[in-house]
Amino acid sequence: MAKYLVTGAAGFIGSSLVRALLERGEQVRGIDNFSTGRRENLTEVLNRIDFREADILDLDAMHQACAGVDYVLHEAAIPSVPKSVLDPLASNRANVDGTVNVLIAARDAKVQRVVYAASSSAYGDTPTLPKHEAMIPNPISPYAVAKLASELYMVSFYRCYGLETVSLRYFNIFGPRQDPSSPYSGVLAKFSMQMLRGEQPTIFGDGTTSRDFTYIDNAVSANLLACTAPAAECAGRVFNCATGARSTLNQTFDALKQLTGYQGSVKYAPERGGDIKHSLADIAQAQKHLGYKVLVNFEDGLRRTVEWYKNQCRPVGA
Ligand code: UD1
Repeated sequence: MAKYLVTGAAGFIGSSLVRALLERGEQVRGIDNFSTGRRENLTEVLNRIDFREADILDLDAMHQACAGVDYVLHEAAIPSVPKSVLDPLASNRANVDGTVNVLIAARDAKVQRVVYAASSSAYGDTPTLPKHEAMIPNPISPYAVAKLASELYMVSFYRCYGLETVSLRYFNIFGPRQDPSSPYSGVLAKFSMQMLRGEQPTIFGDGTTSRDFTYIDNAVSANLLACTAPAAECAGRVFNCATGARSTLNQTFDALKQLTGYQGSVKYAPERGGDIKHSLADIAQAQKHLGYKVLVNFEDGLRRTVEWYKNQCRPVGA
């Protein structure tokens, strides 16, 4: 049994990792400052983990959190492109300074490996598709820059201190427990909930924008593989975490119409600043070096997600 620290444990991805680790019988410590994470995400597992309310900007708290830990899964972040455009300093603090704190604490505690929630936004708007890891990054938003900077810190800590690090460039992860309620919420969470409630969703742009939407189980599996893959295969490296397929926003809206029973139309609004047009991953490196496989495709993932939100909408006892 190994000991894992999940940062951002009350977030959508963090809380999914906590559950998966508990299912495998691992020992889990979690930290969150509840800036975007929610206590409800951990409700039924809270008494099975060592949870601490802490901020990754608090280095002392990070030193305490890393003590005795084998693996750190670093998910804590302010995960939003538009938010970072509005407040680049806050994005930089959480998404860069916070990461450096986690790395320092992990290094000092002699943690075996740190797996990092990097972002596909690092690729930016390069016309080449699919995006592969050897491409030169071309970030657009402050969020993308911060995520890329943290990725480089991961590499640096491996090179300078021998701390094993693996960065997973997440491509639009979605699924149960993703918060649908904020204007900055991921599009699938937002649309699912809006359409189930009969509210009209808004597509920014003409709807031809495409994404490699990746169901959460795939990201969880990538994290677990990144912990156990031999260091020679993955330490100090970056991998795409995606499905290798993409859907446009228009296609997504149509699929959600079927699944939610929404009868209305969609509204179109101007494109969002900092957005990229198309995103699609080459997942060959993760397959080769981590043994990664796509466990759940987009259609099945969307079905499971809508089912989950349906249950959330249902009145208690219904
Ligand atoms: C980006 C990153 C992703 C990162 C995520 C964190 C890319 C390719 N991906 O996702 O790696 O983890 O930020 O937030 O850069 N949209 C609508 N209507 C809405 C909401 C969104 O049309 O109500 C559109 C957006 O304008 C965008 C697309 O849907 O074109 C996806 O948006 P979103 O779900 O916010 O994620 P990204 O910004 O792509």
